[in-house]
Amino acid sequence: MAKITFDGIEVEVPDGTTILNAARTIGGGIVPPAMCYYTPLKGSGGKCRACLVRVAAGSTKDPRPMPKLVASCITPVQDGMVVENTTSEQVLNVRKGIVEMLLINHPLDCPVCDQAGECDLQNFAFEHGVSTTRYEEERRTFEKIDIGPLIQLHMTRCILCYRCVYTADQLTPERVHGVLGRGDASEIGTYIENIIDNDFSGNVIDVCPVGALTDKTWRFKQRVWFTKPVNAHRDCPKCTGNVVLWYKGKDVLRITARKNEYGEVKEWICNECRFEKKETSDWTIEGPAHIDRTSVISANHYELPVINPQIIADLPESSVRDLEQNPPLKLGN
Ligand code: SF4
Ligand code: FES
Repeated sequence: MAKITFDGIEVEVPDGTTILNAARTIGGGIVPPAMCYYTPLKGSGGKCRACLVRVAAGSTKDPRPMPKLVASCITPVQDGMVVENTTSEQVLNVRKGIVEMLLINHPLDCPVCDQAGECDLQNFAFEHGVSTTRYEEERRTFEKIDIGPLIQLHMTRCILCYRCVYTADQLTPERVHGVLGRGDASEIGTYIENIIDNDFSGNVIDVCPVGALTDKTWRFKQRVWFTKPVNAHRDCPKCTGNVVLWYKGKDVLRITARKNEYGEVKEWICNECRFEKKETSDWTIEGPAHIDRTSVISANHYELPVINPQIIADLPESSVRDLEQNPPLKLGN
């Protein structure tokens, strides 16, 4: 086990845990943002730099600070490590620069993008970015590629996080898409206009943090904040059949996998559940799906993120008082 101090809070985690996952055991607003790391996908992380933190002391054995900020999603903890995230001015400034970099080529087409309202980049820019840009050059453009009847690819919106590539690699028998080209010519593509078509291909829509991969059966039907997400399940021979149905009135407009508080898919779902079962009678309804307080979908129904009760038990009383008085943290029981 390794004991680390993260933003002044001590936590003990198994050896080999990454700094990001150690921070997630604490929870709340001090957890670094992640645009490319995705727990269910092996090898993900290390691409976007959204999760950079400052290591003020490397370990008990070698307490020197690390010379540069490190990507918390791929850096393992060391016993005695001291990490700064929200407590470091340098980290907060660099994060503004990361937002600026990710937005350099990203079109500002949120008003017409289907991902608006549930876009990780929108949230990331809102929480950590600045409202101006210094970029004057032309943004990248791409030839349109058709990747099949179910999934729409908008390459101009892609931030090259590689999540969809790992998803296709690890979930489907034959990956037919990947990142082609190098540097600023890199793009997601299928080489010779191939169709992404297999039982689990729809999952690339759920993992995409932006609107680069969207559901063709749902496009332009409704803004997500006007829909009502409901948990439901069915007996499915291909997947667990646990999904979220997105209703507008009595109509199921789209079906997605369920996600955790970090926007990561809990259980992959098959294309039959996602694209073909759009009648309420196909499903056993469980109840309203949980929506994060920071999402526009939950406007006026805010819930506070909960901080791990185990951590609270070990904190001095003055720190507990501080946490209680400083939203957005809520103490677990
Ligand atoms: S299409 Fe989406 S999931 Fe795939 S690399 Fe681009 S941003 Fe990431
Ligand atoms: S989440 Fe760590 S580099 Fe992208």
